[in-house]
Amino acid sequence: TPRVFSGIQPSGGLHLGNYLGAIQGFVKKQEQDIQTLYCMVDMHAITVWQDPAELTQNTRELAAGFIASGLDPAQSILFNQSQVAEHAQLAWIFNCVARMGWMKRMTQWKDKAGKNSENASLGLLAYPALMAADILIYHATEVPVGEDQKQHLELTRDIAAKFNNDYGVDFFPMTEPVIEGAATRVMSLRDGSKKMSKSDPSDMSRIKMTDSAEDIAKKIRKAKTDPEGLPSEVEGLTDRPEARNLVNIYAALAEQSAEEVLAEMGGKQFGEFKPLLADLAVAKLAPISTEMSRLMQDTAEIDRILAKGAAAASEIAAPILKRTKEIVGMVGA
Ligand code: TYM
Repeated sequence: TPRVFSGIQPSGGLHLGNYLGAIQGFVKKQEQDIQTLYCMVDMHAITVWQDPAELTQNTRELAAGFIASGLDPAQSILFNQSQVAEHAQLAWIFNCVARMGWMKRMTQWKDKAGKNSENASLGLLAYPALMAADILIYHATEVPVGEDQKQHLELTRDIAAKFNNDYGVDFFPMTEPVIEGAATRVMSLRDGSKKMSKSDPSDMSRIKMTDSAEDIAKKIRKAKTDPEGLPSEVEGLTDRPEARNLVNIYAALAEQSAEEVLAEMGGKQFGEFKPLLADLAVAKLAPISTEMSRLMQDTAEIDRILAKGAAAASEIAAPILKRTKEIVGMVGA
């Protein structure tokens, strides 16, 4: 039976890329009546420095964001990674399966560690092994993510395959990435060659889930475009990354394809299209942000939901960890 797992780092500043690339897909999977687990990966977040009080706040805010976006704690298991100890335990075993060379080839490692990699945390290098553990501790078969996580999911398959091969078992499944929708890679509003990200120094480059309606409208109005209007077919977006990005965002928000959007909007100038996009974004995001603030008024309730989720997650993870330890030959498994 299929089982879905995905995670988001509680490092603050949930943005439109996270929503369209990941959370919308989480909700879709929840609607399909299969088992879904969604995780705030706080142990991944601390691979780079996180202020403790902010980590706590950001974890609760991410949980509120999940619920406000339509994830229902009665249908999906929502939990915090560090609250389910099996993740770290399996991650250690995977640290011993994965090879240094695999880790050093990851583009995220290269981007985040930069030139001063001697001074990066060991956790940042081991990051993808923990991610593989997140997924495989549940034998999850489907992982909805944005395009930037594709390489990590290929590595997850490599780790599963090497474990199975080294120990001569057929134990860990091959996980399928689910990279769907019109906006699997949302780009910066200021530069169509960079992805929208929480680490971009310019706040105008991204739309945050908690932005006010005025801020959303302003950021879209000021978004970089070219002087031409919208084409009526997607081929007309070739070499126009900023135009393509806005069309993809519109399509993802409207749950349409880019083709459908252009069939309707082709011929319009950006002066006309941008206000329509802003209205759509506000209509979609404002209720989520309002609901997030409401949920954040009762953090004890959020903590209860996460504790319940952790207990449910642990129930699935514990027997898989036990079996893994037996396979490895650990006494007392
Ligand atoms: P993170 O926290 O950076 O991002 C969370 C999700 O949002 C997607 N995303 C985007 N999608 C489209 N356009 C963008 N500009 C954009 N920016 C971010 C990401 O692809 C991701 O799906 N390593 C993961 C977290 C993780 C995980 C896991 C995911 C840890 N363990 C296990 C899946 C399964 C990460 O850093 O995502």
